[in-house]
Amino acid sequence: MATPHIESKKEDIAKIVLMPGDPLRAEMIAKNYLENYRVVNKVRGMNAYTGFYKGKEVTIFPSGMGIPSMGIYSYELFQFYDVEKIIRIGTTGAYTENLNLFDLVLVENSYSKSNYALDLYDSDDHMISADIDLNAKIKNVAFQKDVLLQYGNVYSTETFYDSHSNIKDLYEKYHCLGAEMESYALFHNAKFLNKKAACLLTVSDNLITKEETTSEERQNSLNQMIELALNSIL
Ligand code: HPA
Repeated sequence: MATPHIESKKEDIAKIVLMPGDPLRAEMIAKNYLENYRVVNKVRGMNAYTGFYKGKEVTIFPSGMGIPSMGIYSYELFQFYDVEKIIRIGTTGAYTENLNLFDLVLVENSYSKSNYALDLYDSDDHMISADIDLNAKIKNVAFQKDVLLQYGNVYSTETFYDSHSNIKDLYEKYHCLGAEMESYALFHNAKFLNKKAACLLTVSDNLITKEETTSEERQNSLNQMIELALNSIL
């Protein structure tokens, strides 16, 4: 079996998938954390890996950047590969001074102006929630492991260079702690295909204080988020 974008056999994709945006990060996670992993997709250079974390089978599949790319991959994984849970692990640009670089955010609701849900599901819901049970599990693991986790909404933007977005409005009216670009598609696919999805984010830059992380710092800080996501699937 294959889809236009995934060449894997059905049995080569685990029921639980972790999705970083970046294919190189997927490779890094497989190499550093998985045992007996194998490459299960190479189409478009979106290399995906299936292996075992503490005995549990998991697939690390990159989403690419943005709602359309996440929309395609998470839809195909849920619909054609019988994936049950997807946890996105990504980065966010913070909308508040209260968030420091490298802080971890668990997304409760994703707000977007995107027409993704309208086009695909005839839904004009512009605020969509993560799976409550999956979020509870992640919160619980964070608590047990003494990992400081903040929760809140995010703005799932379609434009990285969106100088016109009103940050004050997004923060005060929609309670968005920051911006990212994929959770809105992931949460809608999960809802309409009866699956579970969550989104963990590391603060990579702060749009208020203008602080930024270097790519090297980002790499190290992401380990805490990766470990939290992996321990939440056990
Ligand atoms: N905008 C959108 N997505 C992001 C950002 C941002 O500033 N930072 C990290 N992901």
